[in-house]
Amino acid sequence: MDSVVQVNGLAEEQELLSVLRNRSTPTAEFRGASDRLARVLSAKFVKRLYDVSCTAEDRVHSTDQGVQDFADTLIVPVMRAGLALVPAFTELLPDAPVGIVGVERNEETAEPSLYYERLPAAPLERALIIDPMLATGGTACLIASLLIELGYESGSIHFVGVLAAPVGMDKLSRIIPRPNVTVAAVDQGLDQHNYIVPGLGDYGDRYYGT
Ligand code: URA
Repeated sequence: MDSVVQVNGLAEEQELLSVLRNRSTPTAEFRGASDRLARVLSAKFVKRLYDVSCTAEDRVHSTDQGVQDFADTLIVPVMRAGLALVPAFTELLPDAPVGIVGVERNEETAEPSLYYERLPAAPLERALIIDPMLATGGTACLIASLLIELGYESGSIHFVGVLAAPVGMDKLSRIIPRPNVTVAAVDQGLDQHNYIVPGLGDYGDRYYGT
């Protein structure tokens, strides 16, 4: 297993992003680049949150010594594409619970609604929403609001994704602090179907090869 994760520079992030953006990247290569980018993003998150350097070995080592169990962060992947990012985060936060949510968009109103939710009833120290594409921000705001209803302080909610549209960043930053929102790049905007432009297409379709 390629378990060594370092907080690499922007150059690696941008290189991986350009593989993802390329519409002719085949599924296997897209998955590989997505998995590597997810590890870079998870390493950054862990470093910022826990102020530790980030290798999977470090995490296991620390856990064995009881230094830190990393169980105080609830990881919240949004189905379907968010599931692709989960292994990179559980690798570095091996004891963190994962609460899966599913959101669908009403075709007439374009309003997101929750169709699946498995979140622990009692809030942890913080929650981390993971979803590769922060487009309109509707889904991320819905989940952030749900977490607030469950008792999370807005400042204890974080978001990590791959690409964002400015409108999604702005909308989410009205619910959780802007510094808690991390993406590899903010693109120009959205098209008429609410896809990020230039973006990379449908992340779930490309990752799962559907
Ligand atoms: N979801 C995607 O997969 N892609 C987008 O561009 C926007 C939302």
